[in-house]
Amino acid sequence: MKRIFPFFIAVSIVMTFSGGSAFAASADENYKWYCAQCHGSGGKGDGINSKDLPVTPRNHTNPADMKKLTDGDIENVIKQGGAATSKSTTMPPFGSTITGDEIKEMVKYLHKLCNC
Ligand code: HEC
Repeated sequence: MKRIFPFFIAVSIVMTFSGGSAFAASADENYKWYCAQCHGSGGKGDGINSKDLPVTPRNHTNPADMKKLTDGDIENVIKQGGAATSKSTTMPPFGSTITGDEIKEMVKYLHKLCNC
């Protein structure tokens, strides 16, 4: 038993940390956590911070605006922020905050918001 016990501890530690998905937040959660203060919890660009920003955050529910962006554009602006795509620097970069997979899920989530 003395030998088996540490084995179980090791297995449970490995299972906890190798799951990956256990820690990857859903796009919906990430949006509420990281984007909603500017873009609004429903994505309309009316978040609590939006009034104080010099540039209005993109309305993610507007298909006409969102259709102008390719998936690559959206991924880029989320990863590198507004500055990297010649947009307002008030759009912050999230490349070191959320993972590449989470950003891809976020792109899909934005398509749901604009229904486009
Ligand atoms: C501090 C406020 C702020 C936060 C937080 C923020 N944004 Fe933005 N975002 C902006 C602003 C302002 C713009 C408009 C930039 C412009 O048009 O120059 C913008 C624009 C965008 C655009 C459109 C870019 C384009 O080229 O038209 C996308 C897509 C976007 N944000 C996604 C997100 C996502 C996803 C998150 C969360 C992970 C997020 N933003 C968090 C402020 C913010």
